[in-house]
Amino acid sequence: MRLSERLAFWRQFQDHFASTGAIQPSSRFLARAMTEPLRDRQPAAGVRVVEMGPGTGAVTRGIVEAMQPDDKLDCFEINPEFADYLRRVVATDPAFEASRHQIKVHTADASHAVIDAPADYVICSVPLNNLPPAAVEAILEAGARLLAGDGWFTYFEYVLLPRLRGATAAHGERERIRAVQQLKAQFSGAGTCSRIVLPNLPPARAVHVPFSARQA
Ligand SMILES: C[S@@+](CC[C@H](N)C(=O)[O-])C[C@H]1O[C@@H](n2cnc3c(N)ncnc32)[C@H](O)[C@@H]1O
Repeated sequence: MRLSERLAFWRQFQDHFASTGAIQPSSRFLARAMTEPLRDRQPAAGVRVVEMGPGTGAVTRGIVEAMQPDDKLDCFEINPEFADYLRRVVATDPAFEASRHQIKVHTADASHAVIDAPADYVICSVPLNNLPPAAVEAILEAGARLLAGDGWFTYFEYVLLPRLRGATAAHGERERIRAVQQLKAQFSGAGTCSRIVLPNLPPARAVHVPFSARQA
């Protein structure tokens, strides 16, 4: 990962601590874990991928590696500085050369994301554990709406951090964390699987929620 990317991320972390939610971009190992359902897909052309919270594009790179020529990717990033950064990366980085015309970067809150067809994969790096429960609910509902009943919603969370924060925080913050954990648990249905990724700072868990297997 380039130093310029780390610095851009660090600056946004300092200015927008809660919405950035990490001190540095995700590792390529986490990006790989986040894109597992997309990599394992049955042969199918023209899938639609939505990325929520792409930041400087660490997970976007993993998505692009797994994309095929007829696929489309829509990235929704709330922070205009990150969105501009990612547009520049997509336009200039050789890793995006083959797929650049398949990618749109929207400067927008992912909970208001709209695309012109149902998504097959929603890959979310928005730091859910930092947000008020109502904002988490809005993101999860947007994911369900975009998938229209079929596909995968993937998110990540840092391992042990919610528990540690829950144990040490003041009462109001403890309640918030508990409510967010509850929302995520309710959202995850049958068939949800997860993978722990140790080579990431901090170690994280990618959680994959399959929609076709969900109970209504
Ligand atoms: C933990 S960083 C992850 C960045 C990148 N995907 C990575 O893994 O390195 C969280 C990202 O989510 C973005 N974000 C936070 N809230 C958001 C929202 N409601 N809609 C879209 N993006 C959001 C932040 O600006 C930031 O880019």
